[in-house]
Amino acid sequence: MNVTAIGRFYDRFAGVYDHLFDHVFREGRAEAIRALELAPGSRVLEVGVGTGLTLPLYPAGTEIVGIDISQPMLREARERADRENGGKRVGLVRMDAARLAFPDDTFDGVYAPYVVSVVPYPRRVVEEMARVCRPGGKVVIVNHFGSRNRLGAFLEKRLTPLTHFVGFRLDLPVEAILGIPGLELEENRRVNMLKLWRLLVFRKTTVEGAGVGETAVAGATRIA
Ligand SMILES: C[S@@+](CC[C@H](N)C(=O)[O-])C[C@H]1O[C@@H](n2cnc3c(N)ncnc32)[C@H](O)[C@@H]1O
Repeated sequence: MNVTAIGRFYDRFAGVYDHLFDHVFREGRAEAIRALELAPGSRVLEVGVGTGLTLPLYPAGTEIVGIDISQPMLREARERADRENGGKRVGLVRMDAARLAFPDDTFDGVYAPYVVSVVPYPRRVVEEMARVCRPGGKVVIVNHFGSRNRLGAFLEKRLTPLTHFVGFRLDLPVEAILGIPGLELEENRRVNMLKLWRLLVFRKTTVEGAGVGETAVAGATRIA
């Protein structure tokens, strides 16, 4: 599915999303917030913020920017942010995760819950997340990835043509988003029901040899 078709799918789904995916994914969202280790005043980008189910979990004093391709999902997120704010600043913008309209090194943490197997170009999305995260900050992903055991992998391959119609794939290999320059994997563990999802925590590093006042990340050199 292309970005427009995926967006349209979530447009129609916005009103019922919480009934299906609030509780079932809650553990992963809470673990991701813990992993971000946000200090008061931290600035976070949430990619594919959806209806904003993670928003109430951020500590007070966090400044959150949420982006999503679906305006109806963002409307639900806006209502939640106004209703359950708890001392946070929340900005919500319609944007494609593969083309983030933020300068390099903008955020202290960048987080994508249940999004990378929904987008057509998962690696591109994670590269963009790395780009807008400041050196030393964290990039956190929660997602289901393709199974390594033969039966699981077989079932996922068979089911993926069906799940495509509901906007995601089951068989995305975790390797598709590993090995991105400037992202060091610090944590990789299972979360949620039956431990079928993974929490991946990366640290954005500077490339060795960058001079004083320079950060060289993901192939780009930026003068601070
Ligand atoms: C499975 S939902 C996850 C929502 C939310 N993160 C959560 O924890 O429930 C996937 C979300 O990604 C959004 N999305 C899909 N493709 C996108 C893209 N290319 N750019 C930004 N958001 C996208 C969808 O609109 C939807 O809100």
